[in-house]
Amino acid sequence: MDSFTGKLAVVTGGGSGIGRELARQLAAQGCSVAACDWNTGAVAQAAATARAGAPDGVLVTGHACDVCDEAQVLRFRDELLEQHASDHVDLVFSNAGIGGGGSFVKDRREDWERTFAIDWWGVYYCARAFLPLLIASGDGVLVNTSSVNGFWATLGPVISRTPGKAGANSINGRGRGACGPSAALAPWAAPGAAAGAVWAQKGRP
Ligand SMILES: NC(=O)c1ccc[n+]([C@@H]2O[C@H](COP(=O)([O-])OP(=O)(O)OC[C@H]3O[C@@H](n4cnc5c(N)ncnc54)[C@H](O)[C@@H]3O)[C@@H](O)[C@H]2O)c1
Repeated sequence: MDSFTGKLAVVTGGGSGIGRELARQLAAQGCSVAACDWNTGAVAQAAATARAGAPDGVLVTGHACDVCDEAQVLRFRDELLEQHASDHVDLVFSNAGIGGGGSFVKDRREDWERTFAIDWWGVYYCARAFLPLLIASGDGVLVNTSSVNGFWATLGPVISRTPGKAGANSINGRGRGACGPSAALAPWAAPGAAAGAVWAQKGRP
């Protein structure tokens, strides 16, 4: 993909940090954006900011969606296709994620599973929902945001962020073979320590 102009991008976790900035920069470069977040106020504000800095003809929409819930992901997909009057998407940034998760051994099972659900199942459901639309683009790119923690267990193997982000890595970089030449999964997106809020382990709004 040589240019973002005229493309349609999906950004999950678009209400804050890396996702919010992705939406803003894509829109400024002429790319329409459908951003989602489970924090509806934050994503509405992020979409308004991105819209304000975008050239004419660029549509930026904000959507409520918990990526751990497949029904909500499918609803988000249908909603954005209708609002953007499109039958495909060109870019998907599966960026929603949280840190922490606690110890497999010492902490609450619910906390471990919650982080794993977002960092793995959220990425998986989005890949399921959007891959056909990326293939339909003919020039599609899927970027699953992992973490350095998905490569090696810097926070410890018993922390659910580690297997969650390793799962995201497992479907990164495999796209050309699996999907044919018309779709590409981006090789790696594994931040080390960017200035996002993920380390604050923000709870569900
Ligand atoms: N910032 C870093 O240093 C760093 C390092 C490694 C990996 N990452 C990864 O980068 C991505 C973005 O991180 P960030 O620092 O911008 O974090 P952030 O907390 O600023 O933004 C994440 C956004 O995702 C949303 N979100 C969380 N769970 C969600 C869900 N289930 N459904 C929908 N939205 C949800 C949050 O509400 C938030 O708006 C995450 O996947 C994170 O794990 C970040």
